[in-house]
Amino acid sequence: MQVTTVTMDDVQYPYRLGTDCLDDIVTRLGELGASRYLVVSDPTVAELYGQRLCEELAALAGPAELITHPSGERNKGLPTLHDLAEEALRRGADRQSIVVALGGGVTGNIAGLLAALLFRGIRLVHVPTTVVAMLDSVLSLKQAVNAGVGKNLVGTFYQPVEVLADTAMLRTLPVREIRSGMCEVVKNSLAIRPSMIDQLSAGLRPDGRYPDDTMRWIIYESLAAKAQVTAYDKYERGEGLVLEYGHTVGHAVEHSSQGAVPHGAAVGLGMIAAARVSHRSGWASAELVELHRELVGKTGVALHIPSDVSLSAVRHRLAFDNKRGYLPVDAASYPMVLLESPGKVLRSEGTVLTAAPRDLVDSVVDELARAPRPGGRSADAAVLDGAR
Ligand SMILES: NC(=O)c1ccc[n+]([C@@H]2O[C@H](COP(=O)([O-])OP(=O)(O)OC[C@H]3O[C@@H](n4cnc5c(N)ncnc54)[C@H](O)[C@@H]3O)[C@@H](O)[C@H]2O)c1
Repeated sequence: MQVTTVTMDDVQYPYRLGTDCLDDIVTRLGELGASRYLVVSDPTVAELYGQRLCEELAALAGPAELITHPSGERNKGLPTLHDLAEEALRRGADRQSIVVALGGGVTGNIAGLLAALLFRGIRLVHVPTTVVAMLDSVLSLKQAVNAGVGKNLVGTFYQPVEVLADTAMLRTLPVREIRSGMCEVVKNSLAIRPSMIDQLSAGLRPDGRYPDDTMRWIIYESLAAKAQVTAYDKYERGEGLVLEYGHTVGHAVEHSSQGAVPHGAAVGLGMIAAARVSHRSGWASAELVELHRELVGKTGVALHIPSDVSLSAVRHRLAFDNKRGYLPVDAASYPMVLLESPGKVLRSEGTVLTAAPRDLVDSVVDELARAPRPGGRSADAAVLDGAR
């Protein structure tokens, strides 16, 4: 496995990446040494990888407990965390135990909080199994669960001791999840690392089938993009807020759809919304909007909000966005990350946020809810033609 050090201010941890390297992951976990390994997974991942990981760990390193939580965004809440904590303690967790978060971003967030809370903090190792987790959530110290009114509103910051990732695990990931994860890569390229746009655009596959070497390239590029904005901002409250690009509308859509629109796919829609807001406000060109549609479209995700997602729920959740409070805005605006051009973020009052008129955001959300006619051209392409 190749190791890269993730650095955020005074925090450092190794990210070991390989392909077909489950044995190396077990060996490394054994080297860390623990009284007990608490392997946390959802049922799907537990069956695919959890049982084998626990058997091999138990044979090599010591007691390993597989603890499952119900899967999906709708179960990323305090009741699930409570049940996991009780179960971990019943199974013998102590201060020398290691929580192994084996799964996607949902498992990573819940297990991350579990590690932070058990005995006021025990070691956490991430073994990410989705694209979103491998290149996004494990590169953040943010651990949170959802509240009734909005996403990720109850949580803390907690660092893993290591990340151990095997791209071979992505071979079993449903195509819908791969497409969704690729939207986060598109986000990194548009908001932070435009140097990767051409190669990414050429490599994106709507069918969601990627060779292992492409996956590794994408993960390394994402490590570099994250490092660019969080190296001096571990709490993601300054430059690191750029990572929230597409997340204002994205989170509202994801949460309102109760998981039917996966995280990355929702962020893809949120980025298109943000680009339209920026363009309609006169801050960005129509080409930027079209570039968003082109890249998000090439990931294979739908470019509209499904008809069964309530738009009034989306608007309601926009008002509870977790970026409130960084930039003073009046009730008629939302603080959003907006781009002027790829890699160039609009700034106001020393932040990477801009007050976006609420009416404009609402109307852009309405447009995203109108499914394009088959074979029809996008409004953005029409605007672009007009500008030529
Ligand atoms: N902390 C952060 O900074 C941060 C960053 C990005 C995302 N997130 C969070 O991550 C979550 C989304 O993560 P996600 O997209 O990974 O969702 P997820 O964890 O729900 O996983 C998606 C689905 O894939 C299945 N799965 C996982 N790995 C698999 C594999 N290898 N093979 C087959 N199936 C597999 C899971 O069972 C699940 O059904 C959101 O809650 C989001 O808020 C957090």
